Amino acid sequence: MMKFALLLLATGLLLSPPFASAHSCSQGFQKLAETKLPNSTRIQSCRRKTLGTEFAWSFNSTSRRLHVAFGARLRHEDTGWMAWGVNPDGPQMAGTRAVIGVKHKNGTFECHKYNVTAMTKSRRCPLVPDDEADVGVEFSRCEMDYDPGLEYHVIVTAVVLPEKKFNSSETNVVWQIGEEIRGNEPLMHPKSINNFDSTETIDLDSTQIISYTRHQRSRLRIVHGIVNIVGWGTLLPSGVIVSRYMRIFPVPRKNWYDIHVTCQTSGYIIGSAGWALGLWLGKASHNYKFNIHNTVGLLIFIFATIQMLAWRLRPHPSDGYRMYWNMYHHFLGYSILALVFFNIFLGIKILEPEHVWKWAYIGVLGTLGSLALAFEFFGWIKFLTQNSSSKHG
Ligand code: HEM
Ligand code: HEM
Ligand SMILES: *[C@@H]1O[C@H](CO)[C@@H](O)[C@H](O)[C@H]1NC(C)=O
Ligand SMILES: *[C@@H]1O[C@H](CO)[C@@H](O)[C@H](O)[C@H]1NC(C)=O
Ligand SMILES: *[C@@H]1O[C@H](CO)[C@@H](O)[C@H](O)[C@H]1NC(C)=O
Ligand SMILES: *[C@@H]1O[C@H](CO)[C@@H](O)[C@H](O)[C@H]1NC(C)=O
Ligand SMILES: *[C@@H]1O[C@H](CO)[C@@H](O)[C@H](O)[C@H]1NC(C)=O
Repeated sequence: MMKFALLLLATGLLLSPPFASAHSCSQGFQKLAETKLPNSTRIQSCRRKTLGTEFAWSFNSTSRRLHVAFGARLRHEDTGWMAWGVNPDGPQMAGTRAVIGVKHKNGTFECHKYNVTAMTKSRRCPLVPDDEADVGVEFSRCEMDYDPGLEYHVIVTAVVLPEKKFNSSETNVVWQIGEEIRGNEPLMHPKSINNFDSTETIDLDSTQIISYTRHQRSRLRIVHGIVNIVGWGTLLPSGVIVSRYMRIFPVPRKNWYDIHVTCQTSGYIIGSAGWALGLWLGKASHNYKFNIHNTVGLLIFIFATIQMLAWRLRPHPSDGYRMYWNMYHHFLGYSILALVFFNIFLGIKILEPEHVWKWAYIGVLGTLGSLALAFEFFGWIKFLTQNSSSKHG
């Protein structure tokens, strides 16, 4: 079981996506951006970003004008929106002055300026375009287009960053992709980690990215997911299967107890390490948190700790309380499993909306489930044949 866990961890790390953000942009997008930006500008930087977007820019430090081409695949068939903006307040959503391209159901596009505020985030204010109003920066251009070859939607814009408000060597850039619209009002974007990691701070003078959170933590998030899946999600249920089917019936094994304790103890230790890593990751993400995932994770840790302590404090088998202890131990055990399955699928939804992990873990659960089902079936056969043979014999 440990070998299997290590194997799973190693393959997970090998298969984990490389740092996409460190890569420069695709040739197709570079070409597209060159044709879209004014002929006199030379693209200073072109990179791939989260949410499958690409971003090319050029900054004139005399005129303080930033030329931008921002490309994305709007996967959703009908409607969609893509936003690109700058934020003098920090690398975050609230305070962003953005241009947002909206794709209508009839296939037409619109591009407008928006003030994205804390009121937008709390949904107290709808995000309505206002091209006339002063959004604090001057967007001189806002065009949206579709390139059928690349299947990209592109926003081309230019924005003047006044020296008073923007330090060009620390410019906060924010982007976002969403699916639903109402008129030309973009509605809430998805809430996966990639939709929250769509900010960065760039030095426009040296083209360097100063802070880009995904870089440092994306691998650890994958480690967090795998360690939790192995510890809580694989070892714990395996230990339950062992204690349920190998103790007395249908396949009694003398060492069932040792296997059970080994599974549960190692599952608890590995799982707790994964939980601690999750806590650390959550602390390191300043702008957002995942409250349900966090709370369920805490409950899992508390209940599992109680379960481990109770195992040391359990009454002697001859004790009259032992039956109640067993009932409670089993009930808490199955409750923990339910919480674990729930939180794993929730974590996968946060990390990988593309469902690759989801199917991998459904595979793990399917294997364990069929094993349990086979034992169950075998148990019933054995029970029925034993009964009938004892009747005849
Ligand atoms: C359309 C209306 C929008 C609504 C209702 C909305 C709402 C939200 C909510 C509820 C969060 C999660 C915060 C958390 O869980 O802690 C969030 C995060 C975020 N949103 Fe939006 N959002 C909208 C539009 C936008 C736009 C247009 C952008 C980009 C310009 C954007 C960029 C971000 C970013 C970068 C985050 C990560 C957390 C942060 O930096 O504040 N959002 N949004
Ligand atoms: C039962 C198992 C799990 C437990 C107990 C657990 C626990 C936690 C905790 C406590 C946090 C911090 C939440 C916050 O402060 O907002 C967290 C964050 C997170 N977890 Fe899990 N988790 C589990 C499984 C998973 C799985 C299977 C995945 C993905 C495959 C996953 C992905 C994430 C991600 C992406 C974050 C956000 C990290 C960040 O903010 O940078 N988790 N987890
Ligand atoms: C840029 O140059 C191309 C060909 O060199 C020309 O067709 C196009 O009109 C120019 N665009 C602008 C905005 O000057
Ligand atoms: C930058 O802007 C200044 C002032 O508008 C202009 O004279 C100059 O030609 C621009 N430089 C480039 C490389 O476009
Ligand atoms: C497409 O739909 C939008 C919004 O519903 C509308 O404003 C626009 O006029 C429509 N355009 C065409 C060509 O039908
Ligand atoms: C947008 O925000 C800026 C700065 O907070 C403010 O001055 C401006 O009035 C806002 N514009 C609109 C249309 O709300
Ligand atoms: C702009 O940011 C750079 C780099 O952090 C810093 O050295 C510089 O002092 C800042 N300039 C202003 C005017 O705040």
